[in-house]
Amino acid sequence: PFRQLVFSGVQPTGNLHLGNYLGAIRKFVALQEEYDCIYCVVDLHSLTAQMVYDDLADQTRQITAAFLASGIDPKKHIVFNQSRVKQHAELAWIFNCVARIGWMNRMTQFKDKAGKDRENASLGLLAYPSLMAADILVYRATHVPVGEDQKQHLELTRDIAQKFNNDFSGRIADLDVGVEMQVGDETVNGFFPLTEPVIGGPAARIMSLRDGSKKMSKSDPSDLSRINLTDDADVISKKIKKAKTDPDALPGELAGLESRPEAKNLVGIYAGLADISKEDVLKAFGGQQFSAFKPALADLAVEKLAPVASEMRRIMADTAYVDAVLKDGGERAGALAEETMKTVRDIIGL
Ligand code: ADP
Ligand code: NA
Repeated sequence: PFRQLVFSGVQPTGNLHLGNYLGAIRKFVALQEEYDCIYCVVDLHSLTAQMVYDDLADQTRQITAAFLASGIDPKKHIVFNQSRVKQHAELAWIFNCVARIGWMNRMTQFKDKAGKDRENASLGLLAYPSLMAADILVYRATHVPVGEDQKQHLELTRDIAQKFNNDFSGRIADLDVGVEMQVGDETVNGFFPLTEPVIGGPAARIMSLRDGSKKMSKSDPSDLSRINLTDDADVISKKIKKAKTDPDALPGELAGLESRPEAKNLVGIYAGLADISKEDVLKAFGGQQFSAFKPALADLAVEKLAPVASEMRRIMADTAYVDAVLKDGGERAGALAEETMKTVRDIIGL
């Protein structure tokens, strides 16, 4: 079998918010106990949004500081930024030649971000999932913790791995570099694993505080829509107080949240922060009004986020330390990536 390995990445674009924290970073922390993990600040991906960043290096340090402040151990595991390891871009090019344009055109994130004027979107925005597949597969990672929004990209990663394994099955067998794996009822020999997403829990999809039909996002123009990791206690309380809700009390059972997206979202945030199920939140708060639930949620959010924010600020102040972590992580990641790429070049005949 493939070595069990976790990979995931976060873009250095703008403020980290509660969705990133609960949907991704908190899972990164938990998985360290069980797996070897590689956590990456994906700076090349951020170029799909904007080519020139006055503060790209600083944003990269900020995400790194958030990883470390949340409890990721850069000695036991690997923390680095993507652009240091050139093999990501090399494998992405090869995957561009494996993947089909139609696969990319179907991605909902591309459709959302490209908007109406698709012909004018960057080619990088279209090819984004191919670079994401390379990020993961250059380590032959078996597990990827992400939010629900990344599910479709993970499926595409599996499609790319499967097509590569299939297209080059002869070479993989000749060179004896395959690993046996189960695909449906069949046992096949492939070079790349079919990576499993690690999605789920009450916080897999945190929605905007202003609109229960949109995900909480860095790119939402309304700052009231999200709680940033670095918001202070007053700002967190204000945003939760202003969060859109309905006039009814909280129900006692999950079924009662079905057509109430804003209420469901706040219950999910509470559950995520407290690390309990939504059912347990409703056991505690069922029958209560939002006027009682919101202050409790605000207190919990402040209690959980304030220590992370202050630790982030402490780490950020030590630029040399953050840079040393990225350099060391980049060297270790680079050695692993080059091992994979040597074989990939052999398989292809480069
Ligand atoms: P964003 O989507 O805010 O631009 P990224 O693309 O860098 O952030 O995503 C970083 C991680 O955070 C990904 O694993 C993504 O799935 C997760 N994530 C982003 N937004 C949310 C959300 N609203 N709820 C849950 N997880 C999220
Ligand atoms: Na995203």
